[in-house]
Amino acid sequence: MSRFPLRPVAAGAEFLGLKEPPHWDTAFGSSGPLELEIGCGAGGFALEYCRRNPHVRYIAFEWRKKFAREVAHRAQVRGLTNLKVIEGDAKLEVPRLFLPGSLAVIHLQFPDPWWKRAHFKRAIVHQDFARFLLTLLTPGGLFDMRTDVEDRAHQMLSILEAVGFHNALGKGVFHPALPEEVPSTRERRYLDTGQPVYRARLTRPGQEQ
Ligand SMILES: C[S@@+](CC[C@H](N)C(=O)[O-])C[C@H]1O[C@@H](n2cnc3c(N)ncnc32)[C@H](O)[C@@H]1O
Repeated sequence: MSRFPLRPVAAGAEFLGLKEPPHWDTAFGSSGPLELEIGCGAGGFALEYCRRNPHVRYIAFEWRKKFAREVAHRAQVRGLTNLKVIEGDAKLEVPRLFLPGSLAVIHLQFPDPWWKRAHFKRAIVHQDFARFLLTLLTPGGLFDMRTDVEDRAHQMLSILEAVGFHNALGKGVFHPALPEEVPSTRERRYLDTGQPVYRARLTRPGQEQ
């Protein structure tokens, strides 16, 4: 996507800095399950997933403006009215935008590993933020996590399980790939090279959806 210029229109500016969560049924003009993606990058997953699942209302966060705006543009060109992209820091904005128990699914695919110790606090799967994300899911709601970084895979899984996410396969066990899964932009690379991808499909304990 680097060959594209920065598009002039900000993505999802109307949702930034709100003091309370918007009425998502009004924002989308429809009702249905609400799903969140943190760090959609070039949007390969969001665009295809929303095409396949028109009943889902999907909010994708990406703080790199060039990516966020391009994905929003592509969604518009493709007529995907169920996808909204917001350019901004998910850790800052998500707490303002979603009520507890309001999300059916949270997607986190190939998050930045933040190798430097001083930067690790920026990680999405950090104890406090992971605990908070759990509260946003409906009981039985799904946390869909994928990464190619083995060390981070184990670390994220152990943090998520420690804060209360349920792993139906058993603690520390990664999930196999599902045949119907949509690959993310980054994941396509690994499908070509055969490099391993570590997945977790964890749920908020409670009644199944
Ligand atoms: C390694 S890329 C993966 C992109 C995409 N999920 C994929 O699999 O192709 C991680 C993405 O997360 C974005 N990101 C990291 N932290 C973020 C944050 N706090 N808020 C919004 N986006 C973030 C980065 O800009 C980057 O595009």
